[in-house]
Amino acid sequence: MARRLSIPGLVNLLEVSDAREIRELDAEPGIDRHLAPAGGLINRLRLARLRQALVFDDQPLPALLPREAQGRESRHAELGQRLDERAEATAWRQDPAFKTLVEAVAGQAEGEALGPAAQGLLGRLFHDEYHADQESYAAARLLNAYPRINVLRALGQRVSGRLGRARRLLAERARAEPLALHATGIAVHNLVASLAAMRELAASPQAHGLSLAAVMGRTLSAPETLLRRVRRPLSTPCAPRRLEPDDLVVLRLADAARGSGDRELAFMGQSWARCPAQSFILALLAAVWEQAMTVQQGGRGA
Ligand code: HEM
Repeated sequence: MARRLSIPGLVNLLEVSDAREIRELDAEPGIDRHLAPAGGLINRLRLARLRQALVFDDQPLPALLPREAQGRESRHAELGQRLDERAEATAWRQDPAFKTLVEAVAGQAEGEALGPAAQGLLGRLFHDEYHADQESYAAARLLNAYPRINVLRALGQRVSGRLGRARRLLAERARAEPLALHATGIAVHNLVASLAAMRELAASPQAHGLSLAAVMGRTLSAPETLLRRVRRPLSTPCAPRRLEPDDLVVLRLADAARGSGDRELAFMGQSWARCPAQSFILALLAAVWEQAMTVQQGGRGA
């Protein structure tokens, strides 16, 4: 159900967590992504947090760019094509990190191994020598959490230099390439959350009887929220009152996708901002699950 929060000068936002409403609002040409300061105080603070964490060299990371940002569509289409080819070629199964993911999901390696292994595997889609470890994964966790932590903690992380150090480390490892930074700093968390859910499911007695579709339906993790901004006055059945320029629209994607098994929605597959990694991530998750089940069966048979 939609929730409208409106206190003039302070906050103006609309939150939706229904799949149909998310799709409707996302398809509105008058609603876009934009991080420039605007709106009431709380709207501005929220946008400032995103800029502090996710703008590198004056450029927002790819999944925060406005529709019309120069080159966005072609760069992401090109990435999508490259990743689709990778998904089919399955060469990434030779990456040692793939074995670690399989073992962790099968319960034969610590769950903590998932983060650095997933980050390394994603990083090496961009640079063969990408190196991930506990330190780079902790940096990615800090970066991803920063927009949502309380004001005092955020201030502490800025003043102490922790945020700056995390950003520098991630940028260095990704050679400051925005798509590699997005994959290893932000997108990696949905992959890790999906794998962690698989690990839990794999430990349950019913795991071996489940179809792949059922496993994906239970474990695929979507981003918690997507942020949009109203660019021109707009009346929509999703909001009780007209939306005004600079109102924020929060799409609560994880709530809508949770347990629905709707893979298109988890990747915003019908959106102008659809995830170019959808096929690759689904192929990777399917391969990890299948191998983990084989490893477990081998272990039982031995
Ligand atoms: C389980 C893993 C993943 C999930 C569930 C996921 C989901 C999403 C979603 C929902 C969006 C839409 C954002 C919006 O509408 O504002 C998105 C965008 C994007 N994702 Fe992913 N993603 C995942 C992994 C990845 C990976 C590994 C990469 C890179 C290798 C990636 C690259 C991108 C890019 C570049 C965009 C921006 C698309 C655009 O605005 O044109 N994603 N992703």
